[in-house]
Amino acid sequence: MKKIFAANWKLFKTPQETRAFFQAFKEVANKATGDLVFFPSALCLEAASNSLQGTKIQFGAQNCFSQVQGAFTGENSAQTAKDMGAQYILIGHSERRQIFGETDAMIADKVALVQSLGLIPLLCIGETLNERESKHTYRILETQLQLGLAKADKAKPLVVAYEPVWAIGTGKVATQEQVAETHTDVQTILKGLGFSAPILYGGSVKPDNAAGLISQPHVSGFLVGGASLEVDSFIKIASV
Ligand code: 13P
Repeated sequence: MKKIFAANWKLFKTPQETRAFFQAFKEVANKATGDLVFFPSALCLEAASNSLQGTKIQFGAQNCFSQVQGAFTGENSAQTAKDMGAQYILIGHSERRQIFGETDAMIADKVALVQSLGLIPLLCIGETLNERESKHTYRILETQLQLGLAKADKAKPLVVAYEPVWAIGTGKVATQEQVAETHTDVQTILKGLGFSAPILYGGSVKPDNAAGLISQPHVSGFLVGGASLEVDSFIKIASV
């Protein structure tokens, strides 16, 4: 199956920086060995959309509300992202869960809405360091998948990203053994719930660890934060 290399830009880059990035990135994008998906911040989606017109590079929003419109000040609509040309929406990133208090129930509603619009939810799951050390990783991931996919359509596309919270932005990448074991567990849990989805790894992915990680079982690609902000490092990761 084709790999997916996704870039989560979080709250980085202005529209001007977004356009400059894509101008340079388009020159090297043909080196990628899989699909490319960018998640710029919401206010840069239009710049991304314009820059990527006529290319195969895909993009999406980092979050959306669980309804397409209404009196929801400050929220973003998945329908608007779709109208702009988005194909994906990132749902349930650990920063959304931890900083903004997103619950599995909220996440389930968002996944369902995104699928109903014909967009692909990229559902993020992952355990904290404390949960891993107390050997609760399997149970945590199972709960996040069970609840987060409670309203999902098994027949519609879905992508899952396993991002251990302790590996995000810390430079502490999960070992190849941890990734192999956990991705196999995630695949088993998904199968038990009746889903089949590519499983991306995220958390301190860099050009020097990408090749080792991509060769592990059930690793269908990456969701990259910091190293996706530079053309050079991201294309090195996407061409493993
Ligand atoms: P880093 O690659 O910066 O660790 O971030 C990972 C991440 O959160 C991607 O969603």
